Amino acid sequence: MKKILITGAGGYIGTQMVEYFLENGYEVIALDKYLFGNTLKDLQGHPNLTIVKDDIRYFDKILLAGVYAVIDLASISNDPSSELLPSITMDINRDGAIRVATLAKEMGVKKFIFSSSCSIYGAGDGILNEESPVAPISVYAKCKIAAEENIIGLADENFSVTFLRNATVYGLSTRRMRFDLIINIMTLNAWKNNKVTIMGQGNQWRPLVHVIDVIRAFELVVKEQDINKINGQAFNVGSNEQNFQVFQVAERFKTLFPEITVEAKQENADPRSYHVNFDKIAKVLNYKTTRTIDDGIMEVRKALADNKVSDGITTRTVEYYKQLMSEGEPVF
Ligand SMILES: NC(=O)c1ccc[n+]([C@@H]2O[C@H](COP(=O)([O-])OP(=O)(O)OC[C@H]3O[C@@H](n4cnc5c(N)ncnc54)[C@H](O)[C@@H]3O)[C@@H](O)[C@H]2O)c1
Repeated sequence: MKKILITGAGGYIGTQMVEYFLENGYEVIALDKYLFGNTLKDLQGHPNLTIVKDDIRYFDKILLAGVYAVIDLASISNDPSSELLPSITMDINRDGAIRVATLAKEMGVKKFIFSSSCSIYGAGDGILNEESPVAPISVYAKCKIAAEENIIGLADENFSVTFLRNATVYGLSTRRMRFDLIINIMTLNAWKNNKVTIMGQGNQWRPLVHVIDVIRAFELVVKEQDINKINGQAFNVGSNEQNFQVFQVAERFKTLFPEITVEAKQENADPRSYHVNFDKIAKVLNYKTTRTIDDGIMEVRKALADNKVSDGITTRTVEYYKQLMSEGEPVF
């Protein structure tokens, strides 16, 4: 049984990923500060799961003994949170990631897989692939690039390094839901207020991907036997068909739910716009996405209706972080 260590295991992607890898016969170490609470509590006691509450900046490297692959998800995980906490974001997202990779190599881990982001393309022109210039806009994106640039140097024939640059994720994750991601927030607002809102003209391009499809991409890298295909490589994770302009996403909601209104607000238009090409992961790893945005919208809507998720403060990352800080405890 292969042992994997997942950092950020208590988050939106991480909690789903832990369950997925356990179901697929892996032994999992779930390392996280659990900023969003004891999100893995329903999996506690699983014979192949070890839950470790610790910080990627400080944990003892002995935890990595016997680990086959490290999946590094831990981070301050969106642009507004990184602007709220710029130096903490650099400590965690850049230096923390470099630390995890360095210790993993030292401890004989075979594969290091980093959760990067298509947002590193920032405000890029044309259709962007892994060779395109990066144009980061936020501290968040700058840290992803800096982490990639530093960690690549650790790659060698015994230590495989892969960067998965995820599109913006959507879909259900009941243990730590995020209602600050475009599809999820629009689904919430359509369900609750019969309204979706776009900022500015909504012309910005966003590639989108379902959370389960993100996890499947990580699994492919964990399973890949031919190290030459993955070592030192970056892959955009998503599919060419799921590049949308924001207004097209809003139109999709209107088609699915004709009763809703689409509101256009002129302030705060997000300057990020990136139309991304996903041919490399399809060709090299034979990767195909399995879910569409309609699937994500419908499953999240159903979960809201069935009371499986609600829009509490922990679902809105930057607001939750602000609340934690206002409580005066040293959180980060
Ligand atoms: N969700 C997306 O749309 C998306 C897109 C591209 C990339 N990513 C990347 O995927 C990863 C996971 O994203 P997510 O949406 O699950 O975010 P999330 O905020 O739900 O999860 C991040 C987790 O990291 C933990 N964490 C933060 N600082 C830590 C530290 N110092 N030590 C240990 N744990 C710490 C938090 O407690 C949290 O559980 C992140 O690296 C993010 O940048 C996400």
